[in-house]
Amino acid sequence: MMNIVLLGAPGVGKGTCAEVLAKKHSIPHISSGDIFREAVAGESELGKKVKQYLDRGELVPDELTVEVIRQRLEKDDCKKGFLLDGFPRTIAQAESLKKFSKIDHILNFTAVKKLIVERLSGRRTCRKCGAIYHIKYFPPKLEGVCDKCGGELYQRSDEAPDVVMKRLAVYEEQTKPLIDYYRNEGTLTDIDANYPAEEIGKIIEQCEEAIKNG
Ligand code: AP5
Repeated sequence: MMNIVLLGAPGVGKGTCAEVLAKKHSIPHISSGDIFREAVAGESELGKKVKQYLDRGELVPDELTVEVIRQRLEKDDCKKGFLLDGFPRTIAQAESLKKFSKIDHILNFTAVKKLIVERLSGRRTCRKCGAIYHIKYFPPKLEGVCDKCGGELYQRSDEAPDVVMKRLAVYEEQTKPLIDYYRNEGTLTDIDANYPAEEIGKIIEQCEEAIKNG
């Protein structure tokens, strides 16, 4: 079994590394943020409920978030493991997760704030396949066009400077306490995510090492 959680501030690079790790280990990459954004784009019932929170950079209420993830983890593709990116984000979510799943590795991504803000402000995301780019660090071959599927690249609505600041504050208040929570349980490994784009392999290597030794 390989049930992995990626922890870390918004923009630290979780999603970028999650793509690589999930592919390597043939497990699904489950991003709570992606699930919510897809729901908003599709104007589903879930989307209508969560839109206001995403727009403001606030967390979606625990009960709703936990139910969405619980249902996702019940799907067949999670039987051999999964990689959770962006969940849990509060102690209450972590407590709930324990009731329906056992987590083997918690990888805690860390980077200095200056890099995080730079990464967030230059990010571009593919509207069609969700691939992540950066205008300076991971540019697409053709500006505004996804290398993988030809989809349109856009800037997320929660990347406006005031919303970014709100998300970073929410992380400090509500998600950071999870670091000590999991450290006390002995399942957490810190991942130094300060390495630049051309050395992303060094971040992946640390994750692989933690998974192997965990
Ligand atoms: P979510 O989508 O989870 O956003 P986040 O945690 O804020 O994380 P990001 O996707 O912004 O960053 P990331 O760490 O994945 O960085 P990335 O790899 O893209 O959540 C959005 C919203 O959904 C929340 O605000 C909330 O409302 C709601 N939500 C989600 N989960 C929830 C939950 N559990 N409970 C309640 N509400 C929830 O990288 C960033 C940029 O940097 C990219 O441009 C990338 O190309 C670049 N980059 C990455 N690595 C490097 C590197 N090493 N060097 C240079 N550039 C790099």
